[in-house]
Amino acid sequence: MKKVSFAVMGVGNRGTRYAVMQQKYPEEMEVVAIADNRPVRLESLNKVLRLPAERLFLSGEEMLAQPKLADVMVIATQDKQHREHAVAALEKGYDLLLEKPIAVTAEDCKAIAETAHRCGRRIIVCHVLRYTVFYQQIKKLIDDGVIGKVESIEAAEQVGYYHYAHSYVRGNWHNSVESSPMILAKSCHDLDLFLWLTGRKCKKVTSFGSQSYFNKEHCPPNAPPRCTDGCPVEDCPYHAQKFYYSRIPGWPANVLHPEPTEENILEILKNTDYGRCVFQMPDNDVVDHEVTNLLMDDGTTVTFTMTGFSNQQTRTIHVFGSKGDVVGDFKARTLSIRVFGKEEETIDLSPLYDDFTGHGGGDGRMIKDVIRFYRGDDFDTSAITMIDRSTESHYLAFAAEHSRIHDGVCIDMDEFMKTI
Ligand SMILES: NC(=O)c1ccc[n+]([C@@H]2O[C@H](COP(=O)([O-])OP(=O)(O)OC[C@H]3O[C@@H](n4cnc5c(N)ncnc54)[C@H](O)[C@@H]3O)[C@@H](O)[C@H]2O)c1
Repeated sequence: MKKVSFAVMGVGNRGTRYAVMQQKYPEEMEVVAIADNRPVRLESLNKVLRLPAERLFLSGEEMLAQPKLADVMVIATQDKQHREHAVAALEKGYDLLLEKPIAVTAEDCKAIAETAHRCGRRIIVCHVLRYTVFYQQIKKLIDDGVIGKVESIEAAEQVGYYHYAHSYVRGNWHNSVESSPMILAKSCHDLDLFLWLTGRKCKKVTSFGSQSYFNKEHCPPNAPPRCTDGCPVEDCPYHAQKFYYSRIPGWPANVLHPEPTEENILEILKNTDYGRCVFQMPDNDVVDHEVTNLLMDDGTTVTFTMTGFSNQQTRTIHVFGSKGDVVGDFKARTLSIRVFGKEEETIDLSPLYDDFTGHGGGDGRMIKDVIRFYRGDDFDTSAITMIDRSTESHYLAFAAEHSRIHDGVCIDMDEFMKTI
């Protein structure tokens, strides 16, 4: 069986996650080069990959200066870098596995898609949730007509208070201008799911949301700017040391350091935003709750809530069809199907999973499909997240953000698309 070769640009949290899939699929994929401008990330990952020194690069640019090294390049650098890195890789002749968001502006997304078309290259965007057992089962129920025609969807992305604080208050996505707005950074997955599940295009969108809690107004008295400065608020769920120490050696402690210990984590907390009081982040402007409404072109309606105020990190969905409805909880791995006039059936999806890690198993299942796609296998590729369908979810995210910052104004997608 032909192995698909990968060069990975950016081996932080996501790039590393994909590169180590080589252990899961040793007969089918091979990582042949990695690039990152943090030597510690290269060294740590290379303990697993064991690449020769000439295949480790201290920047993506350096790696791209080489002749083409692999079949596929994984672009897992930060959101704002995607346009430059993706365009250069496409022009070098690589097919891509591109982390979402494709890019941070509609113009950049369009430029990447157009470059792929011009260069005759393919791009798969990492909408990992589409590949999960959970959403594939819902899609199958809908496509099989079990609940009739989908009339409306009510969905919630419960980010989880700890994930929200880590990524969107202290972390890489705490400032929407420096990185990207929440509806793009996090919820482009959900928008992609709604387009895919309904099989429709979106006609109109509105959105409301704000950052209401993580600010000085809610800061406990006497809380110092950093948790590491002896914060007296013992029961704060966001206390940095308690929070990251309890997560060693896994996520998100391993985002701070690839081989986390209490010693190296403490050093990082003292010197980076990850140790700051969540109520005193100077430039945190990312919404902590948002509701977005979609009107699809066949009249289907979708209401979607993103919230940082949840104990669980999960997604819930309720699909209402003309013949029945289905309720699902991503983390609980359950679906309840209620066909009108029949008894409710609750399905435990657990036996269908061989792995629930990494976005409910979506990371591993996506890589499997990426391998099969780029190897040219004969299989159903209709769910593969190719660039052209993915850009739709991104344009929708930009329109929703425009609505949100303009007081929830209703955006007509046909008109919005004329502005891109
Ligand atoms: N699919 C998903 O569900 C999902 C989840 C989380 C993050 N993401 C996306 O994945 C991407 C990466 O996120 P992350 O969490 O891994 O961030 P990260 O900061 O952990 O990783 C990015 C890496 O890129 C490296 N880098 C920066 N400039 C570089 C350059 N010029 N050349 C090579 N490497 C360079 C950084 O040193 C860093 O290690 C982002 O676009 C993010 O939005 C996607």
